[in-house]
Amino acid sequence: MLLVGPNGVGKTNLLEATHVAAQGFSPRTRTDSQVVRFGADGARAAIAGRRGEVRLELEVTVRRGEGKRAQLNGAPLRAAEQLRTMVSALVFTPDRLGVVKGPPAARRAYFDRVLGRFSPARAPLPAEYGVAVAQRNAALRRAAANLSGRDAIEPWSERVATLGAELVAERLETLALLQPSFAARADELGLGEVSLRYEGDPPTLEGLDAALGRDLERGVTSLGPHLDDVVLAAANRDLRSFGSQGEQRLALLALLLAEAETIADRTGVPPLLLLDDVLSELDPGRRQILAARVRSAGQALVTATDAAMLPTAPDQLLEVAPGSVLEAAA
Ligand SMILES: Nc1ncnc2c1ncn2[C@@H]1O[C@H](COP(=O)(O)OP(=O)(O)OP(=O)(O)O)[C@@H](O)[C@H]1O
Ligand SMILES: [Mg+2]
Repeated sequence: MLLVGPNGVGKTNLLEATHVAAQGFSPRTRTDSQVVRFGADGARAAIAGRRGEVRLELEVTVRRGEGKRAQLNGAPLRAAEQLRTMVSALVFTPDRLGVVKGPPAARRAYFDRVLGRFSPARAPLPAEYGVAVAQRNAALRRAAANLSGRDAIEPWSERVATLGAELVAERLETLALLQPSFAARADELGLGEVSLRYEGDPPTLEGLDAALGRDLERGVTSLGPHLDDVVLAAANRDLRSFGSQGEQRLALLALLLAEAETIADRTGVPPLLLLDDVLSELDPGRRQILAARVRSAGQALVTATDAAMLPTAPDQLLEVAPGSVLEAAA
């Protein structure tokens, strides 16, 4: 589905609203009140569709000062974030380029979300590990201030070692699952010999104990997967530092398409793809390739300022104007 309209009419807003309805949160901001129209008291986003053979109606409402509510087929959910475990929507926006060119934390957060989508049962692991590190850090500071003995740190070191090793294993598994599709999609888009390399080792209790002196001094845990990184490379060049703008974009697109394929393989249901402004910086040949790939990947909503940017006719063409969306003759 292609959404067209001039700059500023609300195409990105529409994709954002679709994401809010499908996943329970905005891809742009964690501050829910920011999705509400200026001057309004609340916002509502609702979508209907099918997940495999099952019909779904999703609705998310945000009221200023009251927080967020979500419904699935008319039944209220405990938390809007639960939608994420039921429906997958993957989003490409130009600000997601941070995954490729941003700091390691951006990649850790990205790949940890992928991990959760591939293995929903393990989705809480990154947060659980984060809590263990925070607890160990708090214990380090208490011990450094002589408010407790060093033995109070040990249980948290054990927990950091156990959960940290599990997290590294899950991340490696996630990268291994992505790698073949990532390489294939990148190659197709003309970005050769790409790889995903994990940088970091599983923490051990011995390692943490050996770091204790330094950690006490600094009040933080100095090893573990909260400091690791994933290197995205093409022809052995780290794309973060050496990729061109276009190459970084292609890598992110290939990553997203690889994630979509892997989710479809694992769950039997392709995710909803929300692609904002993907066509504008691609040359015509790559647009053609992307259009063909997206067509076979389940449902996709693609925005552009001009319908001619998509080389093949979309299944549905929508014209976006401020406050309205109209179906146009494709
Ligand atoms: N919370 C809000 N309430 C009301 N208007 C908003 C809000 N947030 C953003 N806007 C406005 O909505 C308008 C449409 O923005 P949007 O980013 O969706 O346009 P677009 O069609 O994607 O444009 P472009 O082609 O330039 O990407 C902008 O003028 C923006 O200032
Ligand atoms: Mg936009």
